[in-house]
Amino acid sequence: MSLFNVYPLYDVTPVKAKDIYVYDDKGVEYLDLYGGHAVISIGHSHPKYVAAISNQVEKLGFYSNAIQNPLQTQLADKLEILSGCKEYQLFLCNSGAEANENALKLASFHNGKHKILAFNNSFHGRTSAAVAATDNPKVVAPLNAQQKVDFVALGDLESVETILKENQTCAIIIEFIQGVGGLDENTTEFYQGLEKLCKQYNTALIADEVQSGFGRTGDFFAFQKHNITPDIISIAKGMGNGFPVGGILIHPSIKASFGLLGTTFGGNHLACAATLSVLEVLENQNLMQHVSKISEYFLEKAKGLPNLKTIKGRGLMLGLEFDFPISELRKKLIYNHHIFTGGAKNPNVLRILPPLTLQKKHIDVFFDALEKELK
Ligand SMILES: Cc1ncc(COP(=O)(O)O)c(C=O)c1O
Repeated sequence: MSLFNVYPLYDVTPVKAKDIYVYDDKGVEYLDLYGGHAVISIGHSHPKYVAAISNQVEKLGFYSNAIQNPLQTQLADKLEILSGCKEYQLFLCNSGAEANENALKLASFHNGKHKILAFNNSFHGRTSAAVAATDNPKVVAPLNAQQKVDFVALGDLESVETILKENQTCAIIIEFIQGVGGLDENTTEFYQGLEKLCKQYNTALIADEVQSGFGRTGDFFAFQKHNITPDIISIAKGMGNGFPVGGILIHPSIKASFGLLGTTFGGNHLACAATLSVLEVLENQNLMQHVSKISEYFLEKAKGLPNLKTIKGRGLMLGLEFDFPISELRKKLIYNHHIFTGGAKNPNVLRILPPLTLQKKHIDVFFDALEKELK
């Protein structure tokens, strides 16, 4: 059987990885500034992570959500402490799309409305409502297009109000720093305006922190810079450092009832062990403080780079916007310099999403390579 051919592949076959480095089947070392698409948070094969998953699978890898699983409660408690999001409740699932799907569904259950408001250039995943709220017609099948979604430009509060006034919108879903779209971010005034309008018109505000959460921006969540309180926060990616896990944090104003949401695999013992070890390492290695500091070094090094228009993003969720399309540059970085980076919907943006353990020496190697290729 052949594979369903949906991914254009780079010709590299990784067989092992350690911290910031990935090694291929020929023993070549790659510097990973992509983190497998913002997934690797505490570094590849972190010993605490490996031990946590190995120990757990020896004891109990999985049982259903019909029994007690104290690891879920432990995880919820630890997440509350590290994120600073008090009194939210946690529902666990398996991926970012699933997190957003549950978030949108929950918002609709809560206020009885059926439309979604999302923003131009957004990406929220590939399931039913999540993909309908994604601004990319190429990934929206006719089946998904039945969902009613209004797309608005980031920053356009007036259009948001006009739509919410119709009293049909169950949720606004937003990435506080856009990921796939190309790292755009708006002002605190805009985000606080959204929060106010959501309260005024009984619409849930969903923060999609799938990519920006778990310390990637230097804050636990990207929205925290703007001092707002979302109704639902979706999480995945860095949460499991590669283990497939996702979830939503739900504000106490939204009430649970038996059967409202559910999943077979979500919150299984292995996923909880993986996520708990991620949280412990984030805390014990002070990774959020580290991200803020190392990000400053990165920004400093980027100053004066030829052809660079601007740098977007925060922490270690960064986009270098050049005055030319970067797909060739990305290939050269991989094949000539053995450095992984990311692309974006905006063809001129090179995305930097490394493990949060990134050091100055890795940044130096990257900029040396970049300067050579830009000459
Ligand atoms: C902001 C955001 N939301 C949701 C998703 C979907 O996550 P997943 O691929 O785990 O379903 C992604 C994936 O890139 C994302 O960047």
